[in-house]
Amino acid sequence: MPPGQKRCTCLVAGPWCGEALRRYLKDNQLLLSGSRPLKEYSPTRTVLPTFPVRGAKDTTDVRDTFLSACRGVVEIIEAGCETREKWEPPASFTVVGDVAIVALSDEIRGREKEVAEELLRNVRGIRAVYGKEVTEGEYRVQRLVHLAGERIEVTTYREHGLVYRVPLGKVYVNPRLSAEHYRVASRVAPGEIVLDMFAGIGGFSLLISALGKAELVVANDANPWAVSAMLDSIKLNKKKLKTPILVLNMDAKELPRVLRPVFTRIIMNLPHSATKFLDTAHRLCSPRGCIIHVYVVARAQEEALSLVPGSISATRVLDYAPRKFIYRVDVVAKGRGDK
Ligand SMILES: C[S@@+](CC[C@H](N)C(=O)[O-])C[C@H]1O[C@@H](n2cnc3c(N)ncnc32)[C@H](O)[C@@H]1O
Repeated sequence: MPPGQKRCTCLVAGPWCGEALRRYLKDNQLLLSGSRPLKEYSPTRTVLPTFPVRGAKDTTDVRDTFLSACRGVVEIIEAGCETREKWEPPASFTVVGDVAIVALSDEIRGREKEVAEELLRNVRGIRAVYGKEVTEGEYRVQRLVHLAGERIEVTTYREHGLVYRVPLGKVYVNPRLSAEHYRVASRVAPGEIVLDMFAGIGGFSLLISALGKAELVVANDANPWAVSAMLDSIKLNKKKLKTPILVLNMDAKELPRVLRPVFTRIIMNLPHSATKFLDTAHRLCSPRGCIIHVYVVARAQEEALSLVPGSISATRVLDYAPRKFIYRVDVVAKGRGDK
């Protein structure tokens, strides 16, 4: 038998009951996972569904049970099966659209190309692999190095049914924030006015708009590339967006010069320095009060809570570095008007 193949027992079913049989075998742990029969069994020249199973003895009862449902076609046969080994990725990576981004850690230093080629062969749907050196500068942009596949400048990333245009290496993007985008967006109540102070490509803002409860979303970012990508994404998703999004390209410190204190929810996703902008957030809070979500880097929940005055809870969102995490700290603030 060729390498990667072994002899195994298979159950062949009539085409009209293949799915029911497959589900039954799976639920009863009779299906041989990681194996695939090489040849479809076809006594009648019609290709019939064939399932590798644990053993003939176990399956005799199944055959009897399904015989009438499968209108007479259930057979136990011996066939050549292909064994598929479970693939272990050689390094941790994230996928943004059709690009895999692998952290250039000491673990893979010296064999970056080899690791990238392996990812290219095994990760479905990617066309390129880039290495990530550091996330740097005010715009929190990843410095990317091309390692394998095509050279891609702009990719399209999907999250919660929305598409985002991502100019690689020019904007901050992190698919691991996907669940957090949903957690925060789903808390927005009808009629809220939301400010996304450090919006990046708009992961919070577009989703809040698509959920349609807010009255207005203001999405701001200092990085013109992020703002331009966000505007493109607004166009791409225009049929799904419900709440208007006002996009600004400003230093968040300057926002009180152009915005009134009307916001009922303020998102501050700039973990390294969001706390420096807390005063700005309080100045923009509605006179009826607001909820502020401040992201911070901390070693533990108590430390996260201690970094933000008035905090009511801290939730761990992401791993950041060994024994350091990103927390979302929630604050219920009283409005102070436009003092
Ligand atoms: C962590 S990223 C935001 C990610 C985004 N909220 C998301 O969910 O994908 C932080 C963003 O803050 C922006 N930024 C940094 N300093 C800023 C400032 N002073 N004013 C406005 N935006 C700023 C960066 O350009 C970057 O896009």
